[in-house]
Amino acid sequence: MKLKLATLSAAVVLGLSLTAPVQAESGQALAKFHAEMGGCDSCHVGEKIKDIKANLTDSQTHENAQCQDCHGSYQELANDELEFDPHTSHLGEINCTSCHVGHSKPELTCNRCHSFDDMEMPFADSKEKKAWNGDWNQKKIQKAIDKGPVETVDVIVVGGGSAGFNAAISAKEAGANVVLFEKNEYTGGNSMLAAGGINAVGTPQQKAKGIEDSVEWYAEDAMKGGRYQNDPKLVQILSERSADAVKWLEDLGANMDDLKRSGGARVERTHRPSGGHSVGPHIIDTLRKAAEQRDIPVRVNSRVEKIVLNDDKSIAGVVVHGRHSGYNMIAADSVVLATGGYGMNKEMIAYYRPTFADMTSSNNVTATGDGITLAKEIGASMTDIDWVQAHPTIGKDSRILVSETVRGVGAIMVNTDGQRFINELTTRDRASDAILKTEAQWAWLVFDEQLVEKKKMVRGYDHLGMLSKSDTIKGLAEITGMKDLVKTATDYNQYQANGKDDAFGREDMPLNLSKPPYYAVRVQPGIHHVMGGVAVDTDANVLNLQSWKMDGLYAAGEVTGGVHGYNRLGGNAIADTVVFGRIAGENAAKFAKEKK
Ligand code: FUM
Repeated sequence: MKLKLATLSAAVVLGLSLTAPVQAESGQALAKFHAEMGGCDSCHVGEKIKDIKANLTDSQTHENAQCQDCHGSYQELANDELEFDPHTSHLGEINCTSCHVGHSKPELTCNRCHSFDDMEMPFADSKEKKAWNGDWNQKKIQKAIDKGPVETVDVIVVGGGSAGFNAAISAKEAGANVVLFEKNEYTGGNSMLAAGGINAVGTPQQKAKGIEDSVEWYAEDAMKGGRYQNDPKLVQILSERSADAVKWLEDLGANMDDLKRSGGARVERTHRPSGGHSVGPHIIDTLRKAAEQRDIPVRVNSRVEKIVLNDDKSIAGVVVHGRHSGYNMIAADSVVLATGGYGMNKEMIAYYRPTFADMTSSNNVTATGDGITLAKEIGASMTDIDWVQAHPTIGKDSRILVSETVRGVGAIMVNTDGQRFINELTTRDRASDAILKTEAQWAWLVFDEQLVEKKKMVRGYDHLGMLSKSDTIKGLAEITGMKDLVKTATDYNQYQANGKDDAFGREDMPLNLSKPPYYAVRVQPGIHHVMGGVAVDTDANVLNLQSWKMDGLYAAGEVTGGVHGYNRLGGNAIADTVVFGRIAGENAAKFAKEKK
């Protein structure tokens, strides 16, 4: 039986709070409320527990569809009157059940990074229940292996970020039967938070702007940025296939028309959606739709906890721990690891990079390094596993990335006295080191209204209350305590007018500080990217401890090491996920086909 929209108050429909005529009892969970209104089958398939359990998928596809059927689509739920509307957030269309948990306390997913403490949620006082997170139960894993596979496919992709989606779509296009598993309640991973863009050389966008660039320059910049510790063969592939990666995304429906220059790049080669929108949500939205159009099963709430090998060490499949289905083995000839980095795994950071143990992180909660554990367990080799990048500009005392774009477009960076101390466009490792060497160990980015007009994303920082603002530079200096800011701005404007930064040699100064209001945002270094990871060759084939290919095992994106060397350049992460995600997917499909 369907729960009729008319029986709920308007506030419930907007997902805000409950009012008369239908009022939840105190402590009542959303599930009980719905059951009393319309029966268990208003959300689930079936009325009896036995039937419900038999029909419940880990992705809760039916339940999520029911939410939208009664309450409306995300678009219909959008509420312009709210200062922050979770239904129109940068996470896009995550599942309704990501926040509105039926049988326990709801959780505002946004609060994993933000702190919208005063956001009302219906049924907020329901009973808390332990969140499902997968638990790597070795006995249950073994039991699933002993039971044998419950399903067989050609290719399994582990991880639903950009690398995973690109691998799955490519494998499918190459004729494979593919399934993608994501442990989180929704896909996107770290890629969804990408704020920069995708680096590419020789694109029509570069040509239209008359930008001279070359594959050699791209590769040289990546190697120089990586302190020449990158694997040159991987860098060469990244550079050569970058333009095709942009075209592939465009063919899938993305807009990559805007161009900017990122730190460490000698020209504008970072491609992003036009109109100042963030690249991550746009790409993930495009990839989600492309996977759906191709009927690729994308199963969320499904944590891969073991790669199973045959006696001859070839891939037998994986054991998946599903939120509702429990532990099951799925057979496949190829597995692609696309699980991302370990920037949110405190133990791994403390072990591999102890000096960063107390640092904040810009990463999505999904960046727990599962792929490293899975691959190590079956004898994969690791490259530069301890190399972790601190991004210089995470909002102070927060997890919010203040994009390099802000500096790229014109902001200056100053210490707490308002003095510049480094070329703002230097590489991230150098900028982070320079901030950590200042007395306060944090800095300010300063910019004016010209920049806000150019980059919509800055309005987001304003909404989050991160910006200090004044109509004059002097006023900004007073409210922020930056005693030398007026002189710094005067000097900088002069360098900008002369086209030469006499103080720090900044090559690109697109804006001066002249249009009020003036803004400042506090920033500090935080964990952003793990450069090290699973060792791979140019076919995205994972290598074992003797550097031999591990047949049928592929990896792409942040889970791998070697592409970025000691320090990744802005715009090269998404390029990595698309270029090597595609290679991994194509080769995984080819391997599975040849094995038949
Ligand atoms: O600062 C940024 O916009 C980050 C970009 C990236 O990590 O590539």
